[in-house]
Amino acid sequence: MIDIRELNKQFGKHLILDNVSLQVGEGEVVSIIGPSGAGKSTLLRCINMLEVPTSGLIEIGGRPVAYKANRQGRLTYRSQFNLTWLRTEVGMVFQQFHLWPSKTVLQNIIEGPCIVKKMSREKAVKIAEQLLEKVGLLDKMNDYPAQLSGGQQQRVAIARALAMEPKIMLFDEPTSALDPELINEVLDIMVKLAKEGMTMIVVTHEMSFARHVSDRVVFMEKGKIAQIGSPEALFRSPDSRITQFLSQLDHDIDTSLMGVEPNHSRQRPESAG
Ligand SMILES: Nc1ncnc2c1ncn2[C@@H]1O[C@H](COP(=O)(O)OP(=O)(O)OP(=O)(O)O)[C@@H](O)[C@H]1O
Ligand SMILES: [Mg+2]
Repeated sequence: MIDIRELNKQFGKHLILDNVSLQVGEGEVVSIIGPSGAGKSTLLRCINMLEVPTSGLIEIGGRPVAYKANRQGRLTYRSQFNLTWLRTEVGMVFQQFHLWPSKTVLQNIIEGPCIVKKMSREKAVKIAEQLLEKVGLLDKMNDYPAQLSGGQQQRVAIARALAMEPKIMLFDEPTSALDPELINEVLDIMVKLAKEGMTMIVVTHEMSFARHVSDRVVFMEKGKIAQIGSPEALFRSPDSRITQFLSQLDHDIDTSLMGVEPNHSRQRPESAG
């Protein structure tokens, strides 16, 4: 479903993605973990064409994402058509929700389908209502984002991405901006999506999600994929870099991963085990 080969991204002289290759199968859930500055967001942004890679290849469903080498050998955007195609194929959810503040929940959700997919308003509203039901916010349809909690805003952001009927969902630390008590309501929806077979790449600091929901975990460091494997393989005997990374996270999270009883309990997503 997603085929990334030898992807490089430079910002000025800095190599931010260093020869990254990653294949994600249909219905697979891949979590990306790693320290700040590792290039996790940049990787997602390249997949979704919010950033143009310096070199390499990205294919979605066997179709090259809109890059082509120019005469200098650098990659550039291809046609607007490809961008439109990509926007319908791949949904993205950001840490900071990025809802339009002057639009209602419903308007936020139907904007993409109506404008990018040229869907009739009637059909878009129908889809929006189904999605709002799914994320438990049907009654908030006419509210503005500022009237909602962070968790509710993020659930709207997920519904908005799903309204494009994407085959792939990218999540960039979707719960990092939320108060702890609101994290689970967002994780629960992500777990639901995973169970429904959505192909997902999730950058997360929620180790319980990485461990219990993902099929594979990628550990990124300094622009490279430093380790990749099943959650069992990665967390059962983490190498020294991962151990160090985990030890810098919330104490509660990393001790539980090391097989030690956490010394205070933070609620975990039940459906995530
Ligand atoms: N537009 C940009 N211009 C210049 N440098 C950038 C740009 N975007 C990101 N970088 C740099 O690229 C590196 C990787 O950034 P990125 O946001 O991908 O890291 P990350 O792994 O997502 O980190 P975090 O966990 O803090 O979100 C950082 O050193 C960052 O400063
Ligand atoms: Mg990031």
